[in-house]
Amino acid sequence: MRALTVVPQQKDSARVDDVPAPKPEAGAVLIETLAIGICGTDHEIVSGGYGEAPPGEERLILGHESLGRVLEAPANCGLSAGDLAVGIVRHPDPVPCPNCAAGEWDMCRNGQYTEHGIKGLHGFCTEQYRIEPEFAVRVDAGLERVGVLLEPASVVAKAWEHIERIGGRAVWSPRRLLVTGAGPIGLLAAMMGVQRGLDTHVLDRVTDGLKPQLVRDLGATYHSGSIEEAAQDADIVIECTGVGQLALDAIHNTAHDGITCLTGISSGGRPLQVDARALNREIVLENDVVFGSVNANRRHYEKAAKALAQADEGWLARLITRRVPLDRWAEALAKRGDDVKTVIDLTL
Ligand code: BGC
Repeated sequence: MRALTVVPQQKDSARVDDVPAPKPEAGAVLIETLAIGICGTDHEIVSGGYGEAPPGEERLILGHESLGRVLEAPANCGLSAGDLAVGIVRHPDPVPCPNCAAGEWDMCRNGQYTEHGIKGLHGFCTEQYRIEPEFAVRVDAGLERVGVLLEPASVVAKAWEHIERIGGRAVWSPRRLLVTGAGPIGLLAAMMGVQRGLDTHVLDRVTDGLKPQLVRDLGATYHSGSIEEAAQDADIVIECTGVGQLALDAIHNTAHDGITCLTGISSGGRPLQVDARALNREIVLENDVVFGSVNANRRHYEKAAKALAQADEGWLARLITRRVPLDRWAEALAKRGDDVKTVIDLTL
């Protein structure tokens, strides 16, 4: 079976390998992979900056954003042969910590969790894989073109759930949302903001092309200027770029009781000068909350599946800007200016 593999922490080691068929003990559900989405984490793993192979193995099968078709599943597990399904990325730590024990593995306390295609577990960029039913989520047949967006959407659904829980600390009727970054996470965050009836604004660097159009077609407002102008006392900011300066600027530009959710993972760059006293004063005097959000548990995948089902399927399909066959994986990993989401399509 063909699979895209990499030696973690070793630059330029990615290649398509012949790997053995998955063993039955790997899980009762057998899935044929249809599509794999590529994200910043995959770029980091391929460039040698992140990732961990399963214990005792040298290579890691890549791919954590997936869509597949069930080939075999046990009776009454919620999945049947022919269903579309997505594998959940994170598995609980073995201790398990109190959150992992409660199914809230996205909030793992001890860092010993594993993640398919990222940390200690093989990923889904292989022709077939096996998984236990509790780690596979059924996707509506109508979402065949766009179901590969479920994993990034689950990360966004978790961020929204936590924003709303924080908002619930007092009377809260948010009106304005600012999303920084019009990549897949930013666009899905904006989509879920519009679904909540918020006056949604998106800030990105590009001045024209598909991203501004996608934002406008959502019924949101696109900005490419300053964050002050885009934020205008936003009640919620969802930061999706990982650019440190933007994260700081976001905090300065929220309304009183503002919530800033950081979802971007920064990598390197020049140090920033921060007036920590002024920042502290502002956060305290305005009851601001700044929090980070990563990963998703099963509940978030289910919320994301509902959000995708309620969205315009044609709009979602436009987020997938390139589909590349597995043997041309290197093209999928080479970034192009007009990319939103690139997908390795195992059916091509
Ligand atoms: C994935 C998350 C994962 C995170 C850190 C992201 O790209 O979407 O599921 O937790 O990387 O490894």
